[in-house]
Amino acid sequence: MKPATSIVVGEALAAAVMAPSPHNTQPWRFAVDGTRIEVRLDRDRVLTVADPEAHQARMACGAAVLNLAVSLRCQGFEPRIRLLPDAGEPDLLALVTHDGNHRVSAEDRVLAEAIFRRQTHRRPFLDQAVPTRVRALLTSAASHEGAALRVLDTEYTQVTTLVRRAEFVQANDDAFRAESARWTRRQLASPDGVPAAAAGPRPDHEGVIALRESHLDPGLPERLYERQPLLAVVLTRDAGAAADLRAGQAMQRVLLAATSSHVAASFLSQPFEVASTLARLTELFHPLGHPHTLLRLGYGYSAVARTGRRPVQEVLGPGAGDSGAERKAR
Ligand SMILES: Cc1cc2nc3c(=O)[nH]c(=O)nc-3n(C[C@H](O)[C@H](O)[C@H](O)COP(=O)(O)O)c2cc1C
Repeated sequence: MKPATSIVVGEALAAAVMAPSPHNTQPWRFAVDGTRIEVRLDRDRVLTVADPEAHQARMACGAAVLNLAVSLRCQGFEPRIRLLPDAGEPDLLALVTHDGNHRVSAEDRVLAEAIFRRQTHRRPFLDQAVPTRVRALLTSAASHEGAALRVLDTEYTQVTTLVRRAEFVQANDDAFRAESARWTRRQLASPDGVPAAAAGPRPDHEGVIALRESHLDPGLPERLYERQPLLAVVLTRDAGAAADLRAGQAMQRVLLAATSSHVAASFLSQPFEVASTLARLTELFHPLGHPHTLLRLGYGYSAVARTGRRPVQEVLGPGAGDSGAERKAR
């Protein structure tokens, strides 16, 4: 077996940091030692008001792990992923090793290519249904990673009511608003946070979806949003840190599959960030599974500004055994 070169690992890390994260906080750190890549939670980048238990931050890291694995596979290496490999180190979220040659498939290429095209789309979608064939592709992407994607059906109105309720609670919470303000309406060149240019226009009527106030651009004229977006929730069998990571991997595979099918996506995380609405959501999906994130899916028709990323060198730190191989990979 040949080990990946520092160029291969560098490429895989460049893919990893393209993962989505709440307010583009990028709450991850990596350490490379030979064939081992450690993925760690960066506690300094967890949103302490919106995400005090770091559920969403762990999901973002799970998404980074998925990108890492897709990139290694597309470069001909078989990744082996161990989630939470050390019970004594809860912030060591994953250990990714490559332990064999991989025959690159067409699917590997499609997913790898989508990593650099995927974006959160906060603008109106067309009133055009996502066909059953594409929905099936998205649900199978989630199952592939050991989770489920539930397209909302009978729960639709209850969930959208919870989104609005949570949005209302957060709009009246000074600590939440201050945290949001720190990470949004940034300059386009900012290496983290959400630039003003990635925000959406204010809806011109009380639509079914509620975009976060901080993700609306007051400078844009009001626009009509789609009447009834496709909403889908990522579910896992259990709750807990490993489930957050698996949900993040599944969410990312869904987003990559969506990108490759020209389906745009944005998130509606408000009800996960308010204790009372989260409790209702959890109840609503019991016993189907534990809910992690709510996605709005559809066909966008206007260009969206790209969010920035910190360079890989900034998120590489010493791991358990900082060796020469790691320094070479930097
Ligand atoms: C777990 C999670 C929750 C998110 N929640 C929201 C949200 O509620 N509203 C929103 O507009 N974006 C949300 N986002 C999207 C991030 O803001 C976005 O990923 C980040 O700004 C990077 O931009 P990109 O996705 O275009 O690369 C979320 C992302 C993740 C991973």
